[in-house]
Amino acid sequence: MDPLIDPFARRIDYLRISVTDRCDFRCTYCMSEHMTFLPKKELLTLEELERLCTAFVRLGVRKLRITGGEPLVRRNILSFFEGMSQHLGHGLDELTLTTNGSQLDRFAAPLAQAGVRRVNVSLDTLDADRFKAITRWGSLDKVLRGIDAARAAGLRVKINTVALKGTNEDELFDLVAWAAREELDLTFIEVMPMGDMGDGTDGTLRLDQYWPLRDLRARLAERYTLRDLAHRTGGPARYVDLAETGQQIGFITPLTHNFCESCNRVRLTCTGQLYMCLGQEDMADLRAPLRASPDDAALEDAIRAAIARKPKGHDFDYSRQRADGQMSRHMSHTGG
Ligand code: 5AD
Ligand code: SF4
Repeated sequence: MDPLIDPFARRIDYLRISVTDRCDFRCTYCMSEHMTFLPKKELLTLEELERLCTAFVRLGVRKLRITGGEPLVRRNILSFFEGMSQHLGHGLDELTLTTNGSQLDRFAAPLAQAGVRRVNVSLDTLDADRFKAITRWGSLDKVLRGIDAARAAGLRVKINTVALKGTNEDELFDLVAWAAREELDLTFIEVMPMGDMGDGTDGTLRLDQYWPLRDLRARLAERYTLRDLAHRTGGPARYVDLAETGQQIGFITPLTHNFCESCNRVRLTCTGQLYMCLGQEDMADLRAPLRASPDDAALEDAIRAAIARKPKGHDFDYSRQRADGQMSRHMSHTGG
């Protein structure tokens, strides 16, 4: 079977799958408190998700990342992980997930059992009240217990922290020290204007929360000696090494940095739409060919046709964004 190669000779071997748009948190930068979710009948069933992912593995995808929403709130999600783990060592190199950590205390062990080796946990603050303010519905304690459970189960944990001006700015050094102490990898993410960018009156992300990672990095350099690392992990993060602690800190700058040249990924929504680029609106509906026939030939054709449309990058075509510069899509729909 020919691998998936896009028009710019990039090999597509990484699929991110949002298995649900639902979440048990309501982070202010992600969704409003009264977010409406998709009707259940719109979602792919777990069997359909398995069939689709299996087709992608057959077409050369080596890494699957399960996202949401919060993937662990989807009913029976473990059976999906167990199904996918059958591909590990048979085409698939890595099965992983991005989670808010709220359910990790009970899912960590069975996930490890299913062959998951690493998890990304989103955590923006170590202050319980602040955590409540950011996530609205979350409990810091529960997430910290989840992180402990993950490590106890042998999972490598990476923390993703969204940099928020005026919110976790003063915790920069605490977060870095905590990650060093707990031996957790830490990556900062620049906040992206997606979904409900309110005016702040209902607590949603305000434009003045934008904290450029360039500034964060400069703050970090006041206390540590930073060395740029050349290595990439196949993701959009750039890494620096802190000479004093030996720690590596990642930076993801979706808006200001152009990492498109080496893009190896596509994203599948929970309704079966394939987005070829996070920064653009073009997508291919895979649900129709999936449901049209139990045979995968038409589905594989649809996947190949979609990859043939993968754009060069998101910095090259701002004209497709909404006039106000925001993208109308929700991160919880496409998966972060
Ligand atoms: N900007 C940056 N990151 C975001 N995430 C959700 N919404 C945004 C946004 N507007 C992140 C979460 C999580 C990942 C899935 O996406 O914090 O780490
Ligand atoms: Fe849920 Fe993640 Fe969105 Fe927070 S950022 S509401 S945890 S999907």
